Amino acid sequence: MTTVTTGTTTVKGAVGVAHTRVEGRDKVTGAARYAGEIPFAELAHGWLVLSTVARGRIRSVETAPVLGMPGVLTVLHHGNAPRVETDYIGLLGNLPDPTAAVFQHDRVPHMGWPVALVVAETSEQAREAAEALVVGYDEEPHDVAFFEGHPGTYTPADVPHAQAVAEKGDLESELALSAVVVDAEYTTPEEHHSPMEPHAATARWDSGRLEVVDSNQGSTWVAEELAKLFSLDPASVRVRSEHVGGGFGSKGVRPHQVAAVMAATALQRPVRVVLTRRQMFSLVGYRSPTAQRIRLGADADGRLRALEHRSLNLTSTVHEFVEPSAGVGRVLYDADAHHTANRVVRLDVPTPTWMRAPGEAPGSFALESALDELAERCGIDPIALRARNEPETGPVSGLPFSSRNLLACFHEGARRFGWADRDPRPGLRREGRRLLGTGTAAAFFPAGAAPSTAAVTAEADGTFTVRITAADIGTGARTALTLIAADALEVAPDRVRVRIGDSDFGPAMIAGGSMGTRSWAWAVTAAAGDLREQLALGGAIPPEGITVRSDTSAAIAALAHKERHSFGAQFAEVAVDVTTGEVRVRRMLGIFAAGRIVNPLTAHSQLVGGMTWGISMALHEEAVRDQASGGHVGADLAGYHFAAHADVPHIEADWVDDPDEDDPVGIKGIGEIGIVGAAAAIANAVWHATGVRHRSLPIRPDRVLLAGTGAGTGTGARDA
Ligand code: MOS
Repeated sequence: MTTVTTGTTTVKGAVGVAHTRVEGRDKVTGAARYAGEIPFAELAHGWLVLSTVARGRIRSVETAPVLGMPGVLTVLHHGNAPRVETDYIGLLGNLPDPTAAVFQHDRVPHMGWPVALVVAETSEQAREAAEALVVGYDEEPHDVAFFEGHPGTYTPADVPHAQAVAEKGDLESELALSAVVVDAEYTTPEEHHSPMEPHAATARWDSGRLEVVDSNQGSTWVAEELAKLFSLDPASVRVRSEHVGGGFGSKGVRPHQVAAVMAATALQRPVRVVLTRRQMFSLVGYRSPTAQRIRLGADADGRLRALEHRSLNLTSTVHEFVEPSAGVGRVLYDADAHHTANRVVRLDVPTPTWMRAPGEAPGSFALESALDELAERCGIDPIALRARNEPETGPVSGLPFSSRNLLACFHEGARRFGWADRDPRPGLRREGRRLLGTGTAAAFFPAGAAPSTAAVTAEADGTFTVRITAADIGTGARTALTLIAADALEVAPDRVRVRIGDSDFGPAMIAGGSMGTRSWAWAVTAAAGDLREQLALGGAIPPEGITVRSDTSAAIAALAHKERHSFGAQFAEVAVDVTTGEVRVRRMLGIFAAGRIVNPLTAHSQLVGGMTWGISMALHEEAVRDQASGGHVGADLAGYHFAAHADVPHIEADWVDDPDEDDPVGIKGIGEIGIVGAAAAIANAVWHATGVRHRSLPIRPDRVLLAGTGAGTGTGARDA
């Protein structure tokens, strides 16, 4: 890598060199302000009131006593809130979830549905009054029980980027011809995003424009939907979101922004609505539980004849969301008969949504566990089994891969993890009261790009300003774009200022789908390249600078039709305590082929973060719903367990060379792939340690104890 110098020296090659976050100092000193803490004069505070029943109708909202409480300004509810428009097309062609359109009717479709907003002078007064507000309900019987075979299960229509059903070949005859068959069911529980920073928004009217200061994954996304909801000219809505403390898919258009706009309009004052951790459990989406069945049929040498993956997820009664878990096999493995199907059932629960690697995270747990079971039955090394089933082209699409370096990841990972010395037999390695084992799994995530616009200004003082409606949700996107702009402008990064998170900067891709940095980088590179050409013509820079705008719509539409993915190989070592049932992950290694890596420092953090979540998914996370009330048990970070420091061992993440030839910077995207396959690698390691196969997540101590640990038997015969 070439050297980076600072100051005014022209340099090449900031991309690929580790760089601390450009806003890091502001964040650690508290100078960086988050949406819930930016001051406004005359600010009023709204507090959401959520339903205490899981299904029914609102009979009464007793506002009078609450309106007399100290500081209370107004109470909004379905009886007095303004009507909004919900019949529109939202992000990427999807229909919007009407959950965000608050207070439009008296129906309650789930526990924790927003029924009112109490607005007061202070947050404490609003909370006090919100908790005192009496809402009467006509309750109806509810159903929140999720299980395979639930009546009403259906196959959804295909949605953009997620075909519900894909079939080729005769499944039953290939299964009948197979020497080895694995037929198993896997389940994953309801899981929550739980970003560090809760959702928060402040809305105000400023000279005829609606301004919302927010914490989101895409300010043009939120601005466009608010304009549609409130039938406003899009140019009259501005959404800003400068610093975001995590999103993971949950930070889109949510009830609090809409409620804040309603209240700001009614009161003609700035109104802030902040969600509590508990409210987030019902208001910002979550990952649906899944019930998955996989049937694999193979020849004795492990070559797949049949691959069937059927996945069921739940959704709400108000909006269809499909967790496309059955899609993983469409990328990973070919088979003569290849059947995959996503199905869904509507229950009286909140609408689930995208959560880091939607589909791939739970789907890879099932499929990559099943591959491990097949390897065991065939007596083949799990990596050799995957190599044997590498497809030439997309197994279902038939399209060429832009690049596919999965085996390079396994090769490098196996070398560094010490896989070659592994005894494949389960239940043999004992250390005191612990059984030790290792496991592996494949990972992939789609690598896409979406149209974006960017503006780059050559300032009169010799610096450059980039403006793009990107969102840095903690990934380091702002820093990555600084490096990319510096290279495209052929200047040092410290001469580049990147401004993001403001819808006035123009349309751009959201921080989502692992497509943010790539999509924005493309737009920044294009604008910077044009600007350099203009500057090369010479002439003085006027005081207002020279600005060039790019729009990548045409370039991205012209991308050749190929399967584009990042790939990876996950490795884990676990120790299972046979007396307590506790599973500890001792080490993890992930090797990824994920395009050109822009900033090795933050890329490493992003991948390790995903793998850490994989530990959490494998061993800890599980939102429990009480069937009687229809609500959660322990909907907070005390009751909802996730991996904390003591649960996380040394995790190594690294990558192989894998530039995307069709991308101006070579990027593919690393946002989500870190979690994919991680839970399967851990579950496979638990089998290797104990000889017991765990097919339901999380692998809790009670489940380990109940299933037994197979200590000393080494037969691998028992299942959990
Ligand atoms: Mo991500 S689940 O695309 O925010």
